[in-house]
Amino acid sequence: MNIGKIDLALVLGSGLSEFLAQRTPVERLSFAQLKLPVAKLAGHAGEALVVEWHGKRVLAFSGRVHGYQGFTAKEITQSVALARDHGAKTLLLTNAAGAINDQFHAGDLMLIKDHINLTGMNPLIGTELADPFVNMTNAYSSRLRAAARGVDGNLREGVYAGLLGPNYETPAEAHYLRTIGADAVGMSTVLETIAARAAGIEVFGVSLITNSVAAADTSHAEVTEIAKGAAARLANLLDGVIAAA
Ligand code: HPA
Repeated sequence: MNIGKIDLALVLGSGLSEFLAQRTPVERLSFAQLKLPVAKLAGHAGEALVVEWHGKRVLAFSGRVHGYQGFTAKEITQSVALARDHGAKTLLLTNAAGAINDQFHAGDLMLIKDHINLTGMNPLIGTELADPFVNMTNAYSSRLRAAARGVDGNLREGVYAGLLGPNYETPAEAHYLRTIGADAVGMSTVLETIAARAAGIEVFGVSLITNSVAAADTSHAEVTEIAKGAAARLANLLDGVIAAA
């Protein structure tokens, strides 16, 4: 295993890994080789690639594990700890999410400007951090969001609510999420952001909207299909943000 020094880490969510195929990795490592927890969900390859990108060494995780698969907050954020231990200063997080905001539609990309952690989990519980009281203002870097808007003029921006899952939301839960100020909802990202901010890592997050929440026909197949359709636009966005990071 040879990751070496890393400038930036990237986590690619459900069905969002395809464009990595366009780059020739310096290293290709399975999650097992990295002693990262492994889940077997379709759409998640479970490997990490080291790629050179705009003069930076990027550690790209294709897939992640989730709380709903039975993993602990510490396991979910082990990828972030690995990136931190190899010197990463920036973390780019991607996910598929359902729209709460009724202006948002399947296929939209939403910059995450803030989050609400409703998972009931936290990676800082039980850690021996000297200061676990991590400041979460500007958790999603306004600098990197501005850079992203410069790359793609058509981005949505909003608040991501992170839930444990795995079932999709009831209509009453969707109503509740709208009331508390969420624009999109998903089952990842928030714990990785908390772990990264505790490590002083600058975070950028983007959600691919795959469906409207509490639509009667939301299915995992639909979510994965929409994700594939937006791959090129997401790749272009990440390319620009990596250049600016
Ligand atoms: N709810 C929660 N998570 C999701 C959704 C949703 O509607 N779509 C994609 N991830």
